[in-house]
Amino acid sequence: MSVVAVIGGQWGDEGKGRIVDLLAQHAHMVIRYSGGNNAGHTVINDRGVFKLHLIPAGIFNPSTANIIGTGVVVDPASLLEEMETLAAADVSFDRLYISDRAHVILPYHREQDRLQETLRGDGKIGTTGRGVGPAYSDKMERIGLRMADLRDEHTLRQQLARAASMKNAFFRALNGPQVVAEELFEQLRAYGQRLRAHIVPSHPLVQRALQRGERILLEGAQASLLDVDWGTYPYVTSSAPGAAGACQGSGIGPRHLSRILGVYKAYTTRVGGGPFPTELRDETGDLLRERGHEYGTTTGRPRRCGWFDAVAARYVAELNSLTHLVITKLDVLDPLPVIRICTGYRLKGELIDYMPTLASELERVEPIYEELPGWQSDTSAVRDYAALPANARRYLERLAELIGVPLAIISVGASRDASITRVPVEALFA
Ligand code: GDP
Ligand code: IMO
Ligand code: MG
Repeated sequence: MSVVAVIGGQWGDEGKGRIVDLLAQHAHMVIRYSGGNNAGHTVINDRGVFKLHLIPAGIFNPSTANIIGTGVVVDPASLLEEMETLAAADVSFDRLYISDRAHVILPYHREQDRLQETLRGDGKIGTTGRGVGPAYSDKMERIGLRMADLRDEHTLRQQLARAASMKNAFFRALNGPQVVAEELFEQLRAYGQRLRAHIVPSHPLVQRALQRGERILLEGAQASLLDVDWGTYPYVTSSAPGAAGACQGSGIGPRHLSRILGVYKAYTTRVGGGPFPTELRDETGDLLRERGHEYGTTTGRPRRCGWFDAVAARYVAELNSLTHLVITKLDVLDPLPVIRICTGYRLKGELIDYMPTLASELERVEPIYEELPGWQSDTSAVRDYAALPANARRYLERLAELIGVPLAIISVGASRDASITRVPVEALFA
């Protein structure tokens, strides 16, 4: 039995989707365990180019079971749209399952997301506007609807009536639109009918797979620096994207995690507001954005770009007990003569080697950099670690040393085959 978790190591968009697509060739089951359609996972393989938001990236392997786990918040309209796009490429949904305990994102969550961002004014988070935060809040508030409710008219009507009375008090205070429970009931019942075959209790499926000793992949969305507890609060998402969240969101106990892979870009990006110590607001930042096509998969917003932050990276490795490193987008750095790595911060004149808790302090830290020579040659066709330029290997090995975790996979292009495996994929599942 082996359970491999794939976790975002920075502020998201590290290439988790493309790594899951690669590993899923060897997996019996893939479980997306947290987040919602705020995620955008780009996958490029022999079937085409895909932007996944809710559906696990194992969907392209017909023999893999794909589960949208209990920890995910599901917008049924967005899911159905995604299924239509994939159906056009002949992707099969025979083995797509949605945990009946997963919570539902409703149209009023999107409205609430928008209104709250407006109210935040200068302090706005820059959310994806998908209603993810409000859906998680309602789950904790215990007025959420779950996928199981969409299949049960009685519960659906009852839960919706309870939620609507609370929500309407909120929207009245903000002069927002009122929720008409009866209209929403019909809409949700229709979604329930369309998705009926896929909505199942996930626990027996997952337990059976564990008992059979199957290879299970846990697909992360978002990333540890966006974690609601450990990230750059309040500029975070509303879930737990790390290894602990992988257990909670999939229903697999921590003892079963055999490998925990942290996916990092060879540099850093961030979308939305919040502190970003190594951000580059110059032509190097522009070069990273253009070479790396750093525009949001979900919202199309330009991503903020900067140097690799090893202080943040090590913090994430520690939080998640990472066993292996995956470094993506090495090729983006190809033309640079010199590459910098942040190895510490200076805060109010003092050297520190940790991320301060207050966003206002993290905003003000001055990064301390180490400089390494670039390799200034094209790595995109390299498939063997030994064939990488010496300076590229030196850079990667320095990252692994600073993070304190061994390198397993490096990617040098967006398509499935553009990867260099230092640890064979089979061995990761061993
Ligand atoms: P995710 O949210 O972590 O799955 O990452 P995204 O898909 O949002 O963002 C990663 C972007 O980088 C996508 O456009 C990928 O196609 C692209 N990408 C992934 N790996 C590589 C790589 O090694 N090299 C290059 N040039 N692009 C990559
Ligand atoms: P993937 O899975 C990058 C960011 C948003 C915003 C903050 C809160 O593709 O890596 P939310 O809509 O979640 O309430 O927004 O979190 N964010 C992401 N940034 N990649 C993501 O997902 C993200 N999901 C949320 O930009 O700053
Ligand atoms: Mg993304």
